[in-house]
Amino acid sequence: GTTLGGSAAEKGRYFGAAVGTGKFGDNTYMTVLNREFNSLVAENEMKWDHTEPQQGRFNFTNGDRIVSHARSRGMSVRGHALLWHAQQPGWAQGLSGSALRNAAINHVTQVAAHFRGQIHSWDVVNEAFADGGSGGRRDSNLQRTGNDWIEAAFRAARAADPGAKLCYNDYNTDGINAKSTGIYNMVRDFKSRGVPIDCVGLQSHLGTTIDSSYQANIQRFADLGVDVQITELDVMQGSNQANIYATVTRACLAVSRCTGITVWGVRDCDSWRGSDNALLFDCSGNKKAAYNSVLNALNSG
Ligand code: G3I
Repeated sequence: GTTLGGSAAEKGRYFGAAVGTGKFGDNTYMTVLNREFNSLVAENEMKWDHTEPQQGRFNFTNGDRIVSHARSRGMSVRGHALLWHAQQPGWAQGLSGSALRNAAINHVTQVAAHFRGQIHSWDVVNEAFADGGSGGRRDSNLQRTGNDWIEAAFRAARAADPGAKLCYNDYNTDGINAKSTGIYNMVRDFKSRGVPIDCVGLQSHLGTTIDSSYQANIQRFADLGVDVQITELDVMQGSNQANIYATVTRACLAVSRCTGITVWGVRDCDSWRGSDNALLFDCSGNKKAAYNSVLNALNSG
């Protein structure tokens, strides 16, 4: 293939990008987006603060624009994210206990139902595990409603959109470590008890090195019977950037249940990482060395 999406499709995968409707009027941005990618995710516009700015008053305008653009071009859509400790609307930040739990589950139900049938995979819960060596849950208002908040969210999402794959998504899970093992144990428990979970998202916000157990970590999740998706890939610019991008791509291709890769933005200047220049296109929309390295990895083997 000659594009990221086309080459990934030849391997039975998708290759996506995080987008924002604020750039849909930018010709350079749209040219690259439409040419290269066959999956989109909203970088911000399907999050709780955007979709339910006031309790019970939903706003799907920009999320719908992203879905509609994707569908008109035959791209699939990842949904991001139904519940997260960050980017909550102010009203939710002010709730606790059963009021927060009920509001959270209602949010999952209403948003998943609105987009029913249009989402390939939902990040049902984002970043609920703690960094560091504990392997346990992150403290948050949601966690304080009870340890079962994650499975309650997955059950509500399944009921609202039975066709979407339901993912747990997190960062600093780019190898076998205490945090990824905590998530692994949760997924194993969910599978054993019939809690509906289909996939694990490994965000993969990477620096100048990559853990030698990156592929083995993907494999161990796959071996639990869930798909794995690389959901927010970006890599700090440096002498190793192209190699790390290729290593991630090859690792995903090596595991049949690794079904797709999403980069967290289009051009370096679109990225939340600013001067890290962490993406595949420069600010003028030109392909970087890292782009060629990913495309070659997708086309080989
Ligand atoms: O749109 C407003 C603008 O109107 C306002 O003037 C400006 C002033 O602060 O803020 C703008 O909103 C910002 C928004 O990005 C759009 O650029 C928010 O402040 C800013 O907080 C928000 O950051 C996003 C961040 O999540 C929030 O936590 C990043 O774009 C987004 O890339 C980032 O994405 C997260 C994933 O969802 C989860 N994993 C980590 C990843 C990176 O942090």
